Amino acid sequence: MAKAQTSILETKRLTLRPLTMDDLDVLATLYSYPEVRKYFPDRTLTYEETKKELEWIIDVCYGRHGFGLWATIHKETGAFIGRCGLIPWALEGRSEVEVAYLLAKTYWGQGLATEAAQAILGYGFERLPVERLICVIEPENRASAKVATKIGMTYRKEVEDEFGWASLYAIARPGITQD
Ligand SMILES: CC(C)(COP(=O)(O)OP(=O)(O)OC[C@H]1O[C@@H](n2cnc3c(N)ncnc32)[C@H](O)[C@@H]1OP(=O)(O)O)[C@@H](O)C(=O)NCCC(=O)NCCS
Repeated sequence: MAKAQTSILETKRLTLRPLTMDDLDVLATLYSYPEVRKYFPDRTLTYEETKKELEWIIDVCYGRHGFGLWATIHKETGAFIGRCGLIPWALEGRSEVEVAYLLAKTYWGQGLATEAAQAILGYGFERLPVERLICVIEPENRASAKVATKIGMTYRKEVEDEFGWASLYAIARPGITQD
């Protein structure tokens, strides 16, 4: 019998649970859609590239950091509708943790990313000793920037990483005035 998976987070409409290699097919299908991957510097991913990312999430993110991207399940339908969670970053010489969200297009425009991101933010500040949480967003990705601001982040500046320039949004841990 398959082992029951404990969820990481529950919101009104979503369950976030750890990803496993059993999610590879559905994640690879999601990552193959150009619209879903439009604002990612590496664009659509192949099955093999998705497999490498999934291995990195499980081995490095969960294994070393204790957090990562999680399978995002729509409670009403039981469908796997995306992956949202926390990503460790080294940005301009500083260790950061990003609130990340990606959903299947059918589920856009219902406030689901904001619902997930809000819960992830709360989880991040509760569980991790971070001074702030960030989002690194392609400047033209208006929907993503909107989600970041709706969970209380503000635009800080443009940052350069190995993929090019992106907009940095951040929110300080409650009680911290300067991050
Ligand atoms: C970004 C993403 C997760 C948003 O998901 P979602 O569930 O539709 O988001 P929400 O419904 O919670 O909120 C989106 C907000 O952006 C707004 N929005 C959507 N498209 C927009 C656009 N082109 N310009 C301006 N605002 C836009 C919506 O109106 C909504 O704001 P509102 O509630 O004030 O009306 C989804 O578009 C997605 O998965 N995109 C592909 C992956 C991706 O780019 N992830 C982010 C990487 S940084």
